[in-house]
Amino acid sequence: MKGKLTVDLSDQISTIDNRIYSALIEHLGRAVYDGLYNPDHPKSDDNGFRQDVVKAVKDLNIDLIRYPGGNFVSGFNWEDSIGPKDKRPTRLDLAWRSIETNQFGLHEFMKWTSQTGTRPDMAVNLGSRGIDAARNLIEYCNFPGGTYWSDLRKKNGAKDPFKIKTWCLGNEMDGDWQIGHKTAAEYGRLAHETAKVMRLVDPDIDLVVSGSSTREMATFGSWEETVLDHTYDDVDYLSLHRYYDNEENNLHNFLAKSIDLDEFISGIVAVCDAVKARKHSNKTINLALDEWNVWYHSHKQDDETAPWQNAPHLLEDHYNFEDALMVGTMLITLLKHADRVKIACLAQLVNVIAPIMTDDQGIWLQSIFFPFMQVSKYGRGIALVPRQTSDTYDSKDFRAVPYLDSLAVFNSEEKEIVIFAENKGEQPMDFQTEIQDSQVSDIIEATQFCGYDIKQTNEDQQMSIQANNKVSLSDSKITATLQPLSWNMFRVKIAE
Ligand code: AHR
Repeated sequence: MKGKLTVDLSDQISTIDNRIYSALIEHLGRAVYDGLYNPDHPKSDDNGFRQDVVKAVKDLNIDLIRYPGGNFVSGFNWEDSIGPKDKRPTRLDLAWRSIETNQFGLHEFMKWTSQTGTRPDMAVNLGSRGIDAARNLIEYCNFPGGTYWSDLRKKNGAKDPFKIKTWCLGNEMDGDWQIGHKTAAEYGRLAHETAKVMRLVDPDIDLVVSGSSTREMATFGSWEETVLDHTYDDVDYLSLHRYYDNEENNLHNFLAKSIDLDEFISGIVAVCDAVKARKHSNKTINLALDEWNVWYHSHKQDDETAPWQNAPHLLEDHYNFEDALMVGTMLITLLKHADRVKIACLAQLVNVIAPIMTDDQGIWLQSIFFPFMQVSKYGRGIALVPRQTSDTYDSKDFRAVPYLDSLAVFNSEEKEIVIFAENKGEQPMDFQTEIQDSQVSDIIEATQFCGYDIKQTNEDQQMSIQANNKVSLSDSKITATLQPLSWNMFRVKIAE
């Protein structure tokens, strides 16, 4: 098998927004309780924050943390989560049919973000609540002082405003599973009015309006159009969510689903731009893929989990090697859309469909941790148009799927080109990268993630990224072997 990537530094998609390396933390299962927060664990600090988790989150170079949900936010009273812990009410979380103690709340979250070097992306409840709760929350978080809610924040220990920049207007309001599910017109009106009052409190915020929760929704497309009709001038980003599964146990069809993601994103961009044209607007709405991942391994177990527990084991997918390849190809797809996807949140981060898992002893890293960590660390700079050739295959749902998925990122500060390449085939691939009009002086690093059974998971921590020694450089051409079913990264230095 053969594959080739031609890299031209002048053929640029866009500068990559660091916020595409973000994640969701939801009050769900053991994400917050046990995952982030466990005052009884020996690895926790005085705040109750697990330090082993903090370190792993830092290793992932996460930017924004979308919080507190997900479906949870649509039934959440944010006021329950502030003030003295012994006065906070225990509530029924109807989204996940669990018990919410509110022992980890707004102030704890803000402290945790500063400890992990992340930034908040706060969702307001537009399901069971609306304008009033949202305006009070933003006054509490962002107003300097001298008013009821801002002074209450000070009384609760935060003298300075949190200055939360990014806000989500509800979550998946198109889905009938959502508490307070609405029609596009109902939601569009509410989002418009909520955005209006939130901006009256703080004009400097960025707002994300809820788009389709999946491409399969009957309302996909028309939802976006109607919602943007109401909110085009009020918001900055439109959200989309996408999870993939391999329920049918068809590896090649599974890995080809990056094509579906590509089409999903392009379709939504087209709708945004159609509304823009119709409105004669100069403003461009960008996208927030604020939930994405593989999710299906835990469905059966979740169906059997008894309701009304504290921090139950929910959505605890144990990811295998093929899932890591899927996450890799999804990351490359995101980079291909770096011109329009400005925020993307891996869903989620700890214990719940997550790259990081905790148990009583410590943490373990899932297979999907590795490609995410590499792209998030080195995929910084300018995404270059991937001009590639490759052998192709047909799968159940897709035609002419390239075995090779590849893309280069130019980091001008480091004078470095980083190439991400996945071989979706079961044969080794002769892979060539040709850098045009620039001199490559050195290969800094060549790595591969491969050689595992596709169904192998990583509880025993056997998986790791290895050096790729089958790589050579001649005349600004990099020649390498991509192992069967492999995720690869090459970092090369450009001569001054
Ligand atoms: O991430 C898990 C759930 O998936 C979120 O709560 C919801 O927004 C989506 O359906």
